[in-house]
Amino acid sequence: MPESNTGLERLRRFIATATRLASPQALDQGPELAAVFADLVGHDDWLPDACTAPHPQFYQQYLLHCDPLERFSLVSFVWGPGQSTPVHDHEVWGYVGMLRGAEINQRFTRDADGRLALAGEPTTLRPGDVERLSPAEGDIHRVSNAYPDRVSISVHLYGGNIGAVSRHVYDPDTGQAKPFVSGYSSPSLPNLWDRSAAVRATLG
Ligand SMILES: [Fe+2]
Repeated sequence: MPESNTGLERLRRFIATATRLASPQALDQGPELAAVFADLVGHDDWLPDACTAPHPQFYQQYLLHCDPLERFSLVSFVWGPGQSTPVHDHEVWGYVGMLRGAEINQRFTRDADGRLALAGEPTTLRPGDVERLSPAEGDIHRVSNAYPDRVSISVHLYGGNIGAVSRHVYDPDTGQAKPFVSGYSSPSLPNLWDRSAAVRATLG
């Protein structure tokens, strides 16, 4: 019988693979990691319902997993209708994968005087699409739910514990940077480790 690769098993396998790819110090962006992340967000059969709940006012970030050595973290990002982020950066690398609905990503450049300018046209992420973020290449952006009347959900992988990273929001008019840290919307994580049902099914 083929092993199940749906539900929490899919999430658990992704986390195991990312953990194996991490060197002692860090998990680096690379083709193998990009491929397994694309595979994760290419399936919509694993995100626990508790990590899909929108808030009427604020976009939500549910921690799905943080590496014990804080080399990476994985969150579900839940957009209520019409919600958007401020202009911000990350200070760590990231991948954004669209799971449900759609989001609009507008990138910015910042010149030597600190002024922001639009970096090209906004792009729209649809289910299965993956956006790469790299501070070294410029990662300032503003992201919005593409829909005024429905929830959208993306999954973000960051090269650190994003709940402990000091980064910046920017005034779009002046470019002035202000430090911020994003928190997590729930005090609990999905329980990945109760595999008893699968083991029970093998008992004689
Ligand atoms: Fe972002």
